[in-house]
Amino acid sequence: MTAKPVLPTLGIEEIDRQHRQLFDCLERLEAWVGKGYGFAAACATVLSLQNYISNHFQYEESLLRSHSYPKLEEHIEAHRKIRAQVAHYAQQITDGGDVSSELCRLVRDWLLTHIGIDDFEYAKLLNSGS
Ligand SMILES: [Fe+2]
Ligand SMILES: [Fe+2]
Repeated sequence: MTAKPVLPTLGIEEIDRQHRQLFDCLERLEAWVGKGYGFAAACATVLSLQNYISNHFQYEESLLRSHSYPKLEEHIEAHRKIRAQVAHYAQQITDGGDVSSELCRLVRDWLLTHIGIDDFEYAKLLNSGS
C-alpha cells in the first residue's frame, strides 16, 4: 500500500480550497479502487478531473496573469500537459480500458510535483507581496 500523500498548503485560501478538492478526489478514487470498482471509479474521476481542470486552471492562470507572474507561460504549459494526460485517459476509458491505476498515479504526481513544486513556486512570490 502506497503511503497517503500530503496536500501541500500554499497559504492562498481559495487556491488551497481548490487543491483540497483534488486531494479529496484522489482519496475517493483510491477508496473505490481498493473496493474493486476501478473502472466505474475511473469513469467518474475522469469527468470530475475535466470539470476541475477547466475551473481551477483558468482561475489559477488568471490569478498569475493579474500578478504578472514571470513564469506564466511555463505554468500554462504544465497545465496543458496535465490536461492532455487526462484527455488521453478519457479516451482510453471510452475504448473500454480500466485506467484507474494510471489515474491514481497521475493525481498523486499532480499533487506532489505540480502543486508541491510549480504551484508552490508562484505562491512564494505572491505571498511575498508581488
Ligand atoms: Fe493548482
Ligand atoms: Fe498550477
